[in-house]
Amino acid sequence: MASSTLSPATPSQLCASRSALFCPSQALLRKPKNTQMGAKGKEVKISCQATSIPADRVPDMGKRKTMNLLLLGAIGLPTATMLYPYTYFFVPPGTGGAGGGVVAKDALGNDVFADEWLKAHGPGDRTLTQGLKGDPTYLVVEKDKTLATFGINAVCTHLGCVVPWNAAENKFICPCHGSQYNDQGRVVRGPAPLSLALVHADVDDGKVVFVPWVETDFRTGENPWWA
Ligand code: FES
Repeated sequence: MASSTLSPATPSQLCASRSALFCPSQALLRKPKNTQMGAKGKEVKISCQATSIPADRVPDMGKRKTMNLLLLGAIGLPTATMLYPYTYFFVPPGTGGAGGGVVAKDALGNDVFADEWLKAHGPGDRTLTQGLKGDPTYLVVEKDKTLATFGINAVCTHLGCVVPWNAAENKFICPCHGSQYNDQGRVVRGPAPLSLALVHADVDDGKVVFVPWVETDFRTGENPWWA
């Protein structure tokens, strides 16, 4: 029976005792011998030795933690930087109000306060504000000089042009292909197939808050096509 030993080691590194797993004098670890069959059916003994690393060459726990933190930072920071734009794109920013509502913004991007708005806008006024998901949304002032409880999304249901309010005609008239909507945004002339979408216009803490409209469309008596 032939035997061979791998990992040639100097005599000082090898343990003299074959049965010992640990050699105190040289701090030598030794794995049990493996026995394999050689090419000619002969048993070949394989011995593996692993020497311990000197204590003064092993980084202490504090250094290891520091290195781990540095590694985590080096990987985590660029990853988070790359992920943020994707997350921001697919997840809209917080709505800022109860029930998915959003505070209306004026043309300058300032919050719309109901009292100030009514001082500056007379009865029958329809002025664009920034609404849900940034959509242009008309804030409506009723004839009794109160704010309507609904806002009108200004995106044309034909091909998406922003529909201006025509006070002289008392209608919304789309400049792109001539669709017309009455003063509440109900379609009265095509090619637009549907009425303008509605949102609730609530007042919360003095500010106008747009909230998704999921109830029946009061203009048509039908379910809202946009919900
Ligand atoms: S986009 Fe308004 S009528 Fe075509």
